[in-house]
Amino acid sequence: MNYFENLFKPIKIGNFEIPNRVVHVPTDISSANADGSVSSNVIRYHEEIAKGGTGFIIVGASTPDSNTGRPTVTCLSVDADYLIPGLAKLAEAMHRNGAKCAIQIQHPGRQAAYPKKGLMSCSDMVANTPASAGHEVVYAMAEAQGKDIRAMTIEEVFDLIEKFAEGAWRVQQAGFDAVELHGAHGYMIAQFMSPLINKRNDRFGGSFENRMRFPLEIIKKIQYKCGKDFPILIRYSGEEWFPGSRTLDESIKIAKVMEEAGLVALDISAGTFEAGGPTMDPMYYKEGWNTYTAEAIKKVVKIPVITSHTLRNPEYCDSIIAEGKTDMVGLARQLIADPYWANKAKSGKVKEIRRCISCLIGCWKESLYIKQECKCAINPVVGYYDDFLDMLPAKSPIKVAVVGGGVAGLEAARIATIRGHRVTIFEKNCELGGVLLSCCMVPPKLKMKWYLFWIREQIKKLGVEVNLNTEATLENLKDFDAVIFGTGAKKLTPDIPGIENAIYFEDVLHCENKNCEYYDSKKAKPVKAGQKVIVWGDHYAACDTAETLAMRGKEVIIVTENKEFGQDLEVIHKQVMLLRFAGGNGEGLEGRPIKIPVVIKTNTTVNEIKNGEVVLMDKDFNKEVIQVDDVVLAKVEPDTALFDQAKAAGLNAILIGDAKKIRNVRGAVTDGAFAGLLMGEDITMNANGMLAKKIPRVEGFEI
Ligand SMILES: Cc1cc2nc3c(=O)[nH]c(=O)nc-3n(C[C@H](O)[C@H](O)[C@H](O)COP(=O)(O)O)c2cc1C
Repeated sequence: MNYFENLFKPIKIGNFEIPNRVVHVPTDISSANADGSVSSNVIRYHEEIAKGGTGFIIVGASTPDSNTGRPTVTCLSVDADYLIPGLAKLAEAMHRNGAKCAIQIQHPGRQAAYPKKGLMSCSDMVANTPASAGHEVVYAMAEAQGKDIRAMTIEEVFDLIEKFAEGAWRVQQAGFDAVELHGAHGYMIAQFMSPLINKRNDRFGGSFENRMRFPLEIIKKIQYKCGKDFPILIRYSGEEWFPGSRTLDESIKIAKVMEEAGLVALDISAGTFEAGGPTMDPMYYKEGWNTYTAEAIKKVVKIPVITSHTLRNPEYCDSIIAEGKTDMVGLARQLIADPYWANKAKSGKVKEIRRCISCLIGCWKESLYIKQECKCAINPVVGYYDDFLDMLPAKSPIKVAVVGGGVAGLEAARIATIRGHRVTIFEKNCELGGVLLSCCMVPPKLKMKWYLFWIREQIKKLGVEVNLNTEATLENLKDFDAVIFGTGAKKLTPDIPGIENAIYFEDVLHCENKNCEYYDSKKAKPVKAGQKVIVWGDHYAACDTAETLAMRGKEVIIVTENKEFGQDLEVIHKQVMLLRFAGGNGEGLEGRPIKIPVVIKTNTTVNEIKNGEVVLMDKDFNKEVIQVDDVVLAKVEPDTALFDQAKAAGLNAILIGDAKKIRNVRGAVTDGAFAGLLMGEDITMNANGMLAKKIPRVEGFEI
């Protein structure tokens, strides 16, 4: 039986038919070789998505000119003929698995990751915002550098038009079904199209017609080199979400111009990098929040329209096609998190879908943002295709104990069980989930529950033995061949006068959440915080607690010893959070402003807690006394007590997740996955915490 019939109806784009309405919208996974040629990781990433049933795959940003602009340091390139054979292998890998495919050509202009300086753009205007710093050079011991951007000469403009067209011709030679121009997110084409950035006073700037000239000249040149029947799409933002930049009215006008120019489909995205949130929507953004732009554009054109941004659920995706709001749905991070989304939806296995939680940790903060290859916080396979996709069942299954049913422990149990080991989980609480259970207390973090549902479902499906309400002891661990400790974090209690008066963040969060399905009324010791509170700490626990209390109408002061607030937070979430702390709206359409702005005190510590009064001390030892009702302690440290005992007793023990080092969901999932992989193998971890050698694959299973 086929589910979601609107989603799985074929559609024609230009001269080719796509088997369904599911589109992989371009995602630069920054996994190419140094010269921009196709690597085996690029092939494996796209091949899995094709195997997973996605009908149309648009490969991410590929530069037409490596010398003047690469959006990421290891993006693909289409700037030389010698790259064609590799591109052809990539197209074949997708075609072989039933998908149609295109490549997006993008010059980043002033947003280039490479070269670092002397960036070309349509004009020399700089919009310096926290988000644009992601593409700048920021050295550890220096303040963020301003960009060095110059306006292109007219010769350079014509040269780049030629290079775009040559790139498209190479894409055609390689056997792709179409090419897409990247006119979104503030990159070069968007810079020319922009009413804000384009300050040229020649024929490529000024009026609407002049601003459209750059993309239109590229289109004409591609049609000349590739023939008019080689399908061209364009991606651009329906709204750019930055003061002075393009809004929907002009985007509707652009749609008509592009249709007249002969384009075969419009891929409608959102934002520019200056805007932050809307370009790569953080957890705050609601499913399909950008669909209204595609809907408005679809009304004025006959060619198919693709909508994207925070699309995760097949029901929702099917419904917007059925309601005529879009022709196709574009998924980016969802297919990183689960490349088999389409097939799972088609066969009604919706619960099996590992929905992307929009955390931006694996695919942005800990990868592209720091000039590395794309990863995923919840799908450990991404970037490590050989380790996971090629693994075989364990030769000799062993008995594995997992202590702690948090994220790290659950992922370790999942992978070890898939490999054939007999796994038993010991969890001292009444629920599996660990620190994720607290996330359902934090309104902006509710998407984290999606992962929790999924991993719990997997553990059930795999038949892992789970002992809830059970403290592991050396006695009950001694009969196992290996023990994985995912014991998480415990309260860190600073030694200052009056610390016994502080209240703990988890107890505060658990207050007022009686409706949560994970609320354990027997065990929770909810504590209600007073009206004016200090939240003491800096990592996720502190930031989320501060935001939640502020949303409950409290007056919140964050105190951190660090010189910068939230230095370990994901950058786009941090930008949105800071906007919200200042009383603004960082959540796009769904603003829920905080009434009393949150105050942040950096370089400061709590020196003493008295009754109704707190003594703070800054880095120069200046003291300040402030009146507050409560100090909420949000500091944690790894809990290794049982692991240390197990090691001393000679057990074969391994430490993972927050118990190893306080990090985030990606740290926990990755540690867990690799620990699960190496169970029963004579394999060690290398210095980066990855396997020192490969384990071969079990045919026919998907993880
Ligand atoms: C790692 C990463 C790389 C991306 N690369 C591109 C790209 O090359 N071209 C592009 O148009 N958009 C790119 N995007 C934006 C996505 O296509 C998409 O618009 C955005 O992630 C929101 O959609 P989603 O919620 O489905 O992820 C990228 C996003 C991520 C997270």
